This record gives sequence, structure tokens and C-alpha cells, in this order.
Amino acid sequence: KNIVILISGSGSNMACIVQAARREQWHKRFDAQIACVISNRPNAEGLSLADKLGLANQVLDHQLFASRQAFDAELMQLIDRWQPALVVLAGFMRILTPDFVEHYAGRMLNIHPSLLPAFTGLHTHQRAIDAGCKVAGATVHQVVAELDHGPILAQAVVPVVAGDTAQSLAARVLSQEHLLYPKAIREWLERA
Ligand code: GRF
Repeated sequence: KNIVILISGSGSNMACIVQAARREQWHKRFDAQIACVISNRPNAEGLSLADKLGLANQVLDHQLFASRQAFDAELMQLIDRWQPALVVLAGFMRILTPDFVEHYAGRMLNIHPSLLPAFTGLHTHQRAIDAGCKVAGATVHQVVAELDHGPILAQAVVPVVAGDTAQSLAARVLSQEHLLYPKAIREWLERA
């Protein structure tokens, strides 16, 4: 079962998933492996991380495409070369077209840095602080056409503490994402 991971940035979630897959021998337990990492940003730090981890990796620069549809169509082709059982969005900062989402229905996951359904979209940590939330967190969910919606598979909760900035809260949430996402994918594979 091939897993394809899509990234746009530092790729720390991607690396944690790969490390968990190796440590927990997902290839033996689930016949599953991380087949490829694809970034829409040529300079994403996660690409060199993927290199270091010995993973096939590829860039598809969305800026070279005239439309969202054209980018998504090409991305779909790249992904489908691997015939993936699962597509994992790990800090992939692109809104996906309904056709793309439909094509991977039931086999595409995302992680979002808030306790959904609160705070869809961007700037989740600042918005949680501004709202006076006492807890924040992260959510792994199945991807549906509507942004940051879809069935929730797992959540992690962290406290918001006095003096928190968006940055300090983001770091606290991210450290939990690193445990949550591998766990949610493992559970998905157990059910698959
Ligand atoms: C994570 O907080 C993720 O939830 C958000 O972007 C961040 C990606 O971090 N959408 P990384 O690229 O996995 O390090």
C-alpha cells in the first residue's frame, strides 16, 4: 500500500510519519510504505528532509500553472503513478479542487492546527488566543471538498497559557501533531 505525502513547508509532520512507519514496521504490519513526497514549493525545507530520509521526492510548482484546475490535474497524475492507498496532506498549503478531492475520496487525510470545527483556515493560533480559548490543539480529518471539513479521525488538546503568542502556541500544538498524525494514520491502516 503506497502512501504519498504532500507538503509545502518544513515537513516536520512528514518526517515524523516516516520515522513512525520505520520504527513500527508499517511495511510488515500493514504492507504500507511512504512511496513519495511531493511539494508544491520548490524551496520547501521538507524536500531536503525527504532526501535525508532517503525518500523519493518531487516538486510541482503551482506558480507554473495558469489555473488551479491545471495544477490539480498534473498533481493527480504525479500522485497516481504510485497508485496510492492513501494520500497524506502534511502542511500542504493549497486549496484543492472538488474533482481532485473526489478522486481521492475516502483515502486522503489532512492535519489542521486547531480543534475543528473551530478555526478553519489560516492564523488558527492567533485566533484561538484572541478568542480567549483555554485549550487549543490539532485535528486529523478526512478531506472533503469544503476546506478543513470532513470526518474527524483524531484530535490532540494542549493548554493555552498566560503570555502565549501565536508562535509559542504553534510550537506546543506542533509537538502534539508529531504524535497525533502518525497515530491517526496507523489507525487508518489498521482499519484498511
Ligand atoms: C502544521 O502545523 C500543520 O498543521 C499546518 O502547517 C504546519 C506544517 O508543519 N497546516 P510541517 O511542514 O509539518 O513542519
